[in-house]
Amino acid sequence: MAQATLAPDVDDRRDGDDVVIRTTDLTKVYPGMDRPAVDNLNLEVRRGEIFGLLGPNGAGKTTTGGMLTTMVVPTSGGAVVGDIDVVRHPALAKQAIGVVPQQNTLDRALTVWENLYFHGRFFGMSAADSRQAAHELLEEFHLARWGTAPVMSLSGGMAQRLMVARAILHRPEIVFLDEPTAGLDPQSRLALWEILQRLHSGGQTILLTTHYMEEADQLCDRVAIMDHGHILALDTPEGLKEGVDADTIVSVRASGDLDKLEKALGRRKIVTGVVHLDGELRVHVKGATEALPIVLDTVSKSGSRLIDLTINEPTLETVFISLTGKELRD
Ligand SMILES: Nc1ncnc2c1ncn2[C@@H]1O[C@H](COP(=O)(O)OP(=O)(O)O)[C@@H](O)[C@H]1O
Ligand SMILES: [Mg+2]
Repeated sequence: MAQATLAPDVDDRRDGDDVVIRTTDLTKVYPGMDRPAVDNLNLEVRRGEIFGLLGPNGAGKTTTGGMLTTMVVPTSGGAVVGDIDVVRHPALAKQAIGVVPQQNTLDRALTVWENLYFHGRFFGMSAADSRQAAHELLEEFHLARWGTAPVMSLSGGMAQRLMVARAILHRPEIVFLDEPTAGLDPQSRLALWEILQRLHSGGQTILLTTHYMEEADQLCDRVAIMDHGHILALDTPEGLKEGVDADTIVSVRASGDLDKLEKALGRRKIVTGVVHLDGELRVHVKGATEALPIVLDTVSKSGSRLIDLTINEPTLETVFISLTGKELRD
């Protein structure tokens, strides 16, 4: 009897427990800064999702991650990570999280294997457990051959893989990665994406920051677009792109009077918006089968000479430009 009535309760609670990171008006003002690096952030990350913070340099991504991983003390507001208040119980919170920082923080005095093993020991794992986990992760991350090598001998991509292995060794509830593929070659970037997707299929909750729109688009279940410490939009990558009032983006480079051309393009019925980004016009077009001839016609009629033209579907960069009027990359 008791069991029969217990089951639905447990299920109800599980539904309510779906959120594993929650920030409440989370704010950081660094000393001497006139505006907050992170400004009243309210965010929820669900269990098992890959959640992306996408934004340009200085948006406040690292500071947000820093507060969630107890490295940065919030000025006001709070955050709960895996049911633990990170401000009140930082030591406890640390057990629930794995962190892959942007810079290489491997211990150069230790071998590849030792970097894993001592991490486990530091997190309270028994010698046998830690040895076993280190061994398994080296296999899984294709680093077994390098177990006894000094970490200095690893390539950038391998070092990054080792840092991910280290971050998950103590089986944290949530893994944080700060710009995990910045500076990696394309092949290492793909290898890391595959690792993150594999962790994701195993149910791991992952929060990553990135300024690469492709990374956010391809990897993340949901993305928060950040700028100046604020979240400007938050949705699935598809949802964000559908929110743009365009199905085609025609990028035009032309000589002549670009302001005049911008106005002329803006007057065309199929054009829902034109963004002028140094020397290039991004023309947002909706519902047109004949976008190209119309744009070309407008260019020639306004007396400009076409230099280059590309046609794309909206990307997360389009979303960012629509929201801020500037490009994601510097
Ligand atoms: N330790 C610090 N002291 C003072 N200002 C900082 C510090 N860290 C970051 N900032 C500032 O806070 C803002 C957000 O930075 P950051 O969180 O690193 O952004 P992102 O990771 O998105 O590039 C920037 O204006 C940056 O210059
Ligand atoms: Mg950063």
